Amino acid sequence: MSNLMNRRILLGVSGGIAAYKSAELIRRLQDMGADVRVVMTRAAEAFMTPLTLQALSGHPVHNDLLDPEAEAAMGHISLARWADLILIAPASADIIARLAHGKGDNLLTTVCLARRCELAIAPAMNEAMWHNQATQDNLAILQQRGIHQLGPASGGQACGDIGMGRMSEPSTLASEVSHFFETGLLAGKTVVITAGPTREAIDPVRYISNHSSGKMGYALAQATVDAGAKVILISGPTALPCPDRVTCIHTSSAIDMYQSSMDHLPGCDIFIASAAVADFRPATIAEQKIKKTGQDTMHIEMVKNPDIVTAIANADPKPFVVGFAAETHDVIHYARDKLQRKNLDMVVANDISDTHIGFNSDDNIVTILTAESEQYLPKANKFQQAQRIIQAIAKQY
Ligand code: PMT
Repeated sequence: MSNLMNRRILLGVSGGIAAYKSAELIRRLQDMGADVRVVMTRAAEAFMTPLTLQALSGHPVHNDLLDPEAEAAMGHISLARWADLILIAPASADIIARLAHGKGDNLLTTVCLARRCELAIAPAMNEAMWHNQATQDNLAILQQRGIHQLGPASGGQACGDIGMGRMSEPSTLASEVSHFFETGLLAGKTVVITAGPTREAIDPVRYISNHSSGKMGYALAQATVDAGAKVILISGPTALPCPDRVTCIHTSSAIDMYQSSMDHLPGCDIFIASAAVADFRPATIAEQKIKKTGQDTMHIEMVKNPDIVTAIANADPKPFVVGFAAETHDVIHYARDKLQRKNLDMVVANDISDTHIGFNSDDNIVTILTAESEQYLPKANKFQQAQRIIQAIAKQY
């Protein structure tokens, strides 16, 4: 799978005949899994219509720094925050000069000033303009600032000259851009994560559940997507928003969660079971609300739920499977037992007898177990623990 899967590329298009290639560039980036949004300069609009790039990218094209509507919805700061990478292609001699001098006189230069992500430029201009000392000095300034330069290529130019200054081909640019994201620990992997509690219905208004908030699983989903993976989060009922760039599937009962997990098994490289799945469910669900009149006790017959993580770990072919163990005593002993009995590659053990960690708290203390190793992770918030767990998985996988 591509390094660009789920990556957000802000494509800046400046004025030049090569602007026509930006249409194909959007397609090549999308083919590799990227979400592409476009900012155009006014000069670019003389060569390519915003409507074409809107249709191709599937998002409105941004072009006006002072557009009150754009400011309200997604202004320069939001666009800069949204992007994982800004790519200016084509980058004219003019936009290069503006960047070199820190100008913020149009939306594109302002977004570049406000960015925290990497910036890459694909210069495109006539070969005399390319060789002009002013252009070369400006490029040297950008290079010193760590701005990446992709191309240009040499060859025939629109004006009839032959030489340096042709914008690199869209497929070459897309491939070069994908290298920026190679460092992700789980780049190109598909990871399925279960999170939160399950609800086992008794009747239309009542259910049996547990105290899982989903915080641990959602933190894992965020850390995993940050590590470059495609993430499918199969969640029981929680109050948490779906993490950025994660595909969330909302389930309720253990049977729903089991079905959804099996549906996402094909193509899954790593399965992480952090959900607190009910081991049992009522044998029957009353169709109508059960009345309490005339009874002082109530008996609910329970039947066993399918064990999701065991089913995944015994599939053929099987992904790398990580289970959690929530224990109140003899934590490591029981966790090791789960590692073997459930045929897991790794178990993350947490002590749920301490109410400051584990269920429904912001922090956790965990021990990561494999057949050969044991790694204790002292108290930290769940996102930090998730990052450490992902590092351990990437090392072992
Ligand atoms: O959601 P939070 O409030 O942040 O709390 C986090 C947590 C404490 C719920 C989490 O860290 C955790 O420990 N999750 C696993 C809870 C659990 O159900 O543990 P278990 O020991 O009962 O189950 C062992 C493993 O089997 C788990 O990976 C579980 O997801 C899985 N399982 C269990 C039963 C079942 N029917 N199907 C399963 O897949």
